Amino acid sequence: MTFETLLVSAPAPEVRLLTINRPKALNALAPAVVRELLQAVADAAGDAGVRALMITGAGDKAFVAGADIAAMSAMSALEGREFAVQGHALMRTIEMAPFPAIALVNGYALGGGCELALACDFIVASEKAVFGQPEVGLGIVPGFGGTQRLTRLVGKAMAIELCTTGRQVKADEALRIGLVNHVVAPDQLMAKGLELAGAIAQKAPVAVKLAKHLVQRGQDMDLANANAFEADVFGVAFATDDRVEGTRAFVEKRKPEFRGR
Ligand code: CAA
Repeated sequence: MTFETLLVSAPAPEVRLLTINRPKALNALAPAVVRELLQAVADAAGDAGVRALMITGAGDKAFVAGADIAAMSAMSALEGREFAVQGHALMRTIEMAPFPAIALVNGYALGGGCELALACDFIVASEKAVFGQPEVGLGIVPGFGGTQRLTRLVGKAMAIELCTTGRQVKADEALRIGLVNHVVAPDQLMAKGLELAGAIAQKAPVAVKLAKHLVQRGQDMDLANANAFEADVFGVAFATDDRVEGTRAFVEKRKPEFRGR
């Protein structure tokens, strides 16, 4: 699958990397970029050989500096709404994909770029990463889920501060407030992503898929229902060959050989 603004590669077995490739515009998400990302994520989700997805931005300056402001300046209200609907569809597709998605944030992650990173299952940032929701400075509000996902990750008070001041958050603060999982030197970003993706790819495929699914779905449920859901899915995991192999390998003191069944 080839795209105009997106590079698709496999930097390691079972790992798919999507690189948004508009460095001159700081990888801004024009409507066509959102469409291409959606197709690329859906394609990866339909490929049983993909165990982890990584998303990053081309160049050394930006992950994604937001939705494309030039494109938005010409949109009607209805077109703006449709753009947001497309953006939400992309973010939900990432969240519901059957593998963990890791955002490798190499620079600016502003507006829609911050929202794209937030829709990934977790974020690894370079020391040069900068996060923010600057939309109120443009007379708009976050439109790709930022108000909701930022709140779930860093809490209401910090989310309201960031969405109403547009204040930029550097990597060290992002780590402190729980926005990102790791901060590494810029030249170590890909290696860290591959280390984590590689660790995921070594685990039991069905169990990994179920674990992500439980966390993603469970956070929108009340605790009693989420725990009941977990107990059911725990039972489902017991029905897999990999559960038999994983527990037996432990008892026999050897490495498990998972087959994804
Ligand atoms: N959309 C379109 N083009 C963008 C862009 C964006 N979001 N961000 C940067 N660019 C373009 C600039 O227009 C510039 O293009 P030209 O060279 O053709 O003039 C190029 O990228 C480089 O940008 P700067 O010259 O501005 O670079 P800088 O280093 O001086 O500043 C920056 C970097 C602070 C990130 C600055 O570019 C900036 O503030 N960008 C906009 C950030 C923003 O407001 N994002 C939110 C957008 S709204 C949104 O995302 C809505 C939503 O929730 C869905």
